[in-house]
Amino acid sequence: MENKKLGFQTRAIHTGNEIDKDTNAIKRPITMANSYALPYDPTDINWSGANKNLYTRNGGSNQQYLQEKIASLENTEDCIVLASGVAALSGLFFALLKSGDHIIFSSVTYIAVYRLFNELLNNKFNIQTSIVDTSNLEAISDAIRYNTKLIHIETPGNPTLSISDIKAIAKIAHSNNALLSVDNTLASPYNQRPLELGADFCIESLTKYINGHGDSMGGSISGKKEYLDIIRKESQINLGGVISPFNAWLIMRGAVTLPLRMKKHNENAIKIAEYLEKLECVSFVSYPGLKNHKSYEIAISQMENGFGGVLAFGLKTNHDTHNLFISYLQLITSAVSLGHDESLIVFLGENDERQYLYPKEFHNGFFRFSVGLEDVEDLIDDINQALEKIALLKK
Ligand SMILES: Cc1ncc(COP(=O)(O)O)c(C=O)c1O
Repeated sequence: MENKKLGFQTRAIHTGNEIDKDTNAIKRPITMANSYALPYDPTDINWSGANKNLYTRNGGSNQQYLQEKIASLENTEDCIVLASGVAALSGLFFALLKSGDHIIFSSVTYIAVYRLFNELLNNKFNIQTSIVDTSNLEAISDAIRYNTKLIHIETPGNPTLSISDIKAIAKIAHSNNALLSVDNTLASPYNQRPLELGADFCIESLTKYINGHGDSMGGSISGKKEYLDIIRKESQINLGGVISPFNAWLIMRGAVTLPLRMKKHNENAIKIAEYLEKLECVSFVSYPGLKNHKSYEIAISQMENGFGGVLAFGLKTNHDTHNLFISYLQLITSAVSLGHDESLIVFLGENDERQYLYPKEFHNGFFRFSVGLEDVEDLIDDINQALEKIALLKK
């Protein structure tokens, strides 16, 4: 059957998996070898080639199977999987950019992107950078320079859940000879597929929804083979941020249930967002599925199946009481990361170095809440009992 014609759930299960020819096992095994036997005369081998039968940093079986699956879910021709989401992001930037290039990136991005562009690539490698509120198309057009090579956006953006219009930004990028990369981690390919909307690269932290169980790390870059071949050679093979076969195997297994899990994350998160919104003690809720989100219409237009499991909210209280609230939660765990089976919450206090870039409501400290797959009534009960203990909710 033609792969592209199969549904998303079917591809999540089947793509990249086949009956193992050696053992007849119905799941492909983990190949933990880091090296492969050479032919009789190896002189013609390209030692820097992306060949899975040479050396695992050049390409191993398990990473190749996972690449097939992710490329299929992102609906594109090629994918590279690396050791983490940050390895994928830096792999893309190091392969694509050279000294003297200009890049525009969202004012709301994962912190490593902020640091890469604001501290490392600009200062050490002379990459010119503009930080732009990419929910504002005019601001992007105004920031374009003759040497703009790349626009990098994250939508929804971590941690404020800002939304950027992928289709419109792809048009701006392409009419100015620039490329567009989209960090799709908070949406996952089940909810949003940036490459279908005109982006050139789609990045996922596989550590999050695609693995989904909080037990491994990985990252992917998906897009056209012509660019990915360069990234594979320059960043995977020569920078070396390769994923372990075991992690690739775990993520492959997690990805099988991505659509089922995302449906539940979407359902739970909208219910929690609507619940929090009604509470007197909540100062604000940011979730792209709420009608009062500034970019709700854009979110609806580009997020096909829902808005993901991450939301941000604040309490009408002080720094210490925010921490106290978290300490009273019994089911919801205080930890970084997101997209796991279990609910995770993190208090982002007032010292975030990127806070000057966020809207005012985020300046007094706020929570990033990754709503998990638990029964939503239990999550609401947990929030209520913690609010009662800090006297923000009457019994
Ligand atoms: C949007 C986004 N991109 C990238 C990353 C980095 O991924 P990793 O932790 O797998 O390196 C994260 C991590 O939280 C993230 O939230």
